Order: sequence, then C-alpha cells, then structure tokens
Amino acid sequence: MSGWYERSRAKLEAMRGREDLLILAIESSCDETACAITRGREVLSNVIASQIDIHKRYGGVVPEIASRNHVMAISGVVSEALAEAKVEAERLDCVAVTYGSGLLGALLVGVSFAKAFAYALDKPLIAVNHIKGHIAANYLAFPQLTPPYICLIASGGHTAVAKVEGLDDVRLLGSTQDDAAGEAFDKVARVLGLEYPGGPKIQQLAETGKDAVRLPTPLKDEKGYDFSYSGLKTAVINYVHTAEQKGEEIDRADVAKSFQTKAVDMMTDAALRAAIDTGTKKIVIAGGVAANSYLRGSMTEKAAKRGIEVYYPPLKLCTDNAAMIASQAYNMIMCGRGCAHEDLDAVASIPIEA
Ligand code: KG4
Ligand code: ZN
Repeated sequence: MSGWYERSRAKLEAMRGREDLLILAIESSCDETACAITRGREVLSNVIASQIDIHKRYGGVVPEIASRNHVMAISGVVSEALAEAKVEAERLDCVAVTYGSGLLGALLVGVSFAKAFAYALDKPLIAVNHIKGHIAANYLAFPQLTPPYICLIASGGHTAVAKVEGLDDVRLLGSTQDDAAGEAFDKVARVLGLEYPGGPKIQQLAETGKDAVRLPTPLKDEKGYDFSYSGLKTAVINYVHTAEQKGEEIDRADVAKSFQTKAVDMMTDAALRAAIDTGTKKIVIAGGVAANSYLRGSMTEKAAKRGIEVYYPPLKLCTDNAAMIASQAYNMIMCGRGCAHEDLDAVASIPIEA
C-alpha cells in the first residue's frame, strides 16, 4: 500500500485540536498484554492480560516466556477492547503502540501487530515512549492537568525526576545511578520470601512493621536529583543473610517498613527539592511504584507544607496499561508528532525525553 505514511501524516494534521479522537492503543513492553480504546481523555475500554501468575514461579519476568505469551494473547485482547468499547475498527481515528523502552521481544509483538493492524485499516500509527505513557496516565484521571510540573517517575525499569514543560516535552533532571525503585522492591521482596511482583507485597507487610532497622541513606549529601537503590537493596540482603547465619529471628515486617521508608523518602525528597528549586507548584507521580500508598501519602503531605499540589493516577492506571499509551498518543497528535513510518522498530532502551 504505497503512500501510507504520507496519507497518515495528512490525516493526523487534520486531527490536531479535535477533542473526540478515537484511539486504539497497544502495550506489550513487559509482562502485560494490553489494549485500550479512548475517546479524547475518556477511557472506553482498558483490557489487560497479565502474565504475573506465569512469571511468579521464576521470581521475575522471563523475557522469552513473556514474548510467547504476548503472541498468544494479543489478538484476543484487541478484539475484547473493541467489543467492550462498542467501537468498530473502521471507526478508529488512529492506532498507537509502545515502541520502547522494554523487553525487545515483548515490544516487537505489539509493534508488529499494531503496524499490520494500522496498515490493513489504512489508519495512522503513533509510536509511543512507555515512560511518557506512564506520565500521561495522569491526564486521564485529571483532564484539567496542564504542564509545567515536576514528575517523579518510578517503575520497574526507571526511576527519575523530570520537569514536564509541555504535553510531549519532558526534561530529565535526575535519575537512578543503578537499580530502579521497583526493581529494588522486587529484589528485597524476594529475600523476604515474598512473591513477584514485590512492591505490593512489601507495602502490605510494612503495614504492621516499625521503621526500626538501620539502613544507609545513599547519596545523602547529594544536592542534585539522582538516586541510588543498589546500596540500600544490598544492605537489606546483608541484614537478612547475617541474621540467618547467626540463627537470629528477624522481624520481616520491620525490614519491609524500614526499606520502604528509605526507598520512598529518597524519591519524595528529590521531587520536592526539584519543585522548590524550579519554582514549580505541581508534582505528578507516575509508574508502577506510584501505586505505593506510603509514597502517595507522604509526597502529598510533604508537598502540602510547601503549598505544592500532588497528582497521581488511580491504581489501575499506575501499573502497565494501554490507556496511558493512548493518552500520550493524543498528546503527540496535539503537538503534531509521532507519525510512524513503515519501518518502525521496537527499541529496548530509549531516553525518557524521546
Ligand atoms: O510501571 P510498571 O507496571 O512496569 C514497568 O514499566 O516497569 O512497574 C512495575 C513495578 C514493579 O517493580 C512492582 O513491584 C512495582 O512497580 N509496584 C509497587 C507497587 N505496585 C507495583 N512498588 C511499591 N508499592 C506498590 N504498591
Ligand atoms: Zn511501566
């Protein structure tokens, strides 16, 4: 079908400024096969086929198994999203897909499917950055939210503080020097004998614990906005192993609480510092770790003392989903960006700003 890209560009240009755009988005960057349909900022359907039960027995995501399961699930997930939204594919204005960052084989399943789907329907395809998608989940929950704001991004693969200047304009201020926050939650959970994914399990265990285990504060003299989670994670692992070797009982709830407090305080302090330093009155939280109740509560409390408002998405929009990808595609269309070529490829690692 020659001229698909040129026709797509012209169609997208004509869509700029329209508030009722019907977008079908696909997300397959990790262990969730997801498809959503949105009309503007309204979510008509948001289907997620999670592979958590499959990967649980390995203690984490096995990339090859994730890819195979995406292949098996994707067609059914897309049909279900269309049926639930009561939208015929021909009526869609465009298709969107996550092209990076994520597991290459997993991303490839979504990208290949979305390309074929858009091409067959002769609709434009928008290529979306997964992290910008996490940020854009907030516009679904708060359609009145507008940049500029400081964004704290915390997921299984990324931890960063950024200044969001426009709907598709994100500037990195600081990021993790080693592990991501979610990765640290998952690894600490494993050493405490908790199932994957560890974040929600640590949160639950911490509810009955005390902040009583002394753990290091990484980069504590750092005045910038960078993080480090590897030292904190190792300190917890050493604490648990040393106690085991000595045959001492540990209070797992206290370990969970002490780790969660350190891990979260590091993030909220950096986000607050960034807001104060840049004179920004809004902080937005995004990514899977944004589901953490201590993070949500503590960020809101600290920011309120400085007259700063805090936003975070509802739980279902914090962890990986496709509605957030549709929301970012909408942003990109409004900015006249993101029209994919025939040769669009999946990319394992892209900068947050891409
Ligand atoms: O954004 P996400 O769904 O996937 C990636 O893009 O990585 O984030 C998944 C991460 C996992 O590491 C998971 O343990 C963490 O988010 N997570 C949480 C909570 N819920 C999910 N971490 C802390 N507290 C939670 N309640
Ligand atoms: Zn994610």
